[in-house]
Amino acid sequence: MSLRAILSIAALLTLLVAVVNSLPKRYRKPKPPSTDAYVGSDFDYYVLAQVVPQVQCYKVNNLWKAENSSCSPCSSSWARNDLDWTVHGLWPSNLYSDRFLGNCNRTARFDGDQLDAELRAQLEYHWTDLKRAAYKDDFWRHEWEKHGTCAMQVDVLSGMRNYFQQTIELLKRFNVGHHLERQGVTPGNHYDFDEFNNAIVEAYGAQAKIKCAKSPTTGLQYVNEVHLCMDRSFKMIDCTGVLAGSCSKKKKLTYAKNANQCTRKQS
Ligand SMILES: *[C@@H]1O[C@H](CO)[C@@H](O)[C@H](O)[C@H]1NC(C)=O
Ligand SMILES: *[C@@H]1O[C@H](CO)[C@@H](O)[C@H](O)[C@H]1NC(C)=O
Repeated sequence: MSLRAILSIAALLTLLVAVVNSLPKRYRKPKPPSTDAYVGSDFDYYVLAQVVPQVQCYKVNNLWKAENSSCSPCSSSWARNDLDWTVHGLWPSNLYSDRFLGNCNRTARFDGDQLDAELRAQLEYHWTDLKRAAYKDDFWRHEWEKHGTCAMQVDVLSGMRNYFQQTIELLKRFNVGHHLERQGVTPGNHYDFDEFNNAIVEAYGAQAKIKCAKSPTTGLQYVNEVHLCMDRSFKMIDCTGVLAGSCSKKKKLTYAKNANQCTRKQS
């Protein structure tokens, strides 16, 4: 390419940048906040996100075809009590932006060596990585680095081990499956959105967020996640914003039972 050609391309680019800069702000993509803006930034409340493991597994692996099979093609850690939901994450969040913070401390990297066998076993059962063929520890790495590093400013959650351990304790205390059962809402049944939602409000004394996943195979609308909101002393508070994320109130919610583990590996 000749020098002349390079110069004219450079001139063109400069012009383009100038034009983009002169556009009114709303036409431009908002800049992501710099990492520094997040460091030490405060949060108001936590979201404890729990999933129905079976449904999450269908969703993240696109295994909807297996929906009605008698055994689950999901990972072998499947044999579990129907009422035991699992953790998606504990997310420090901000009322002002109604969003969670992320990646608050980029030097606090995930370190799998800090997880001893006992904690790993707990994580595998309660904080299951439902994605097949995920890299080892991938899910926990993601949750720690994105959310845990924001939670670590609180004493009880400071450091990886504390973050994981405390979150598992919160799950045991507030497991949605067990709380719903006490309200007569159990796996294997279908509910109106309001009926399901009222049971949650009754169980926790606060408004949660409910997320659904719709099966492209059967068209059923499954309960996928419930997000509980709690203040910094882990007391339930009402969640705000969109409460019925991705759930259609016109359709019944299907609360899935866990299928049994397959004895023969499926490919
Ligand atoms: C799958 O199971 C659901 C719930 O039991 C049932 O309503 C539906 O008809 C089944 N679909 C197929 C394709 O077998
Ligand atoms: C970030 O994490 C590192 C490593 O855990 C820690 O030493 C440092 O104090 C943290 N910084 C802030 C601002 O919390």
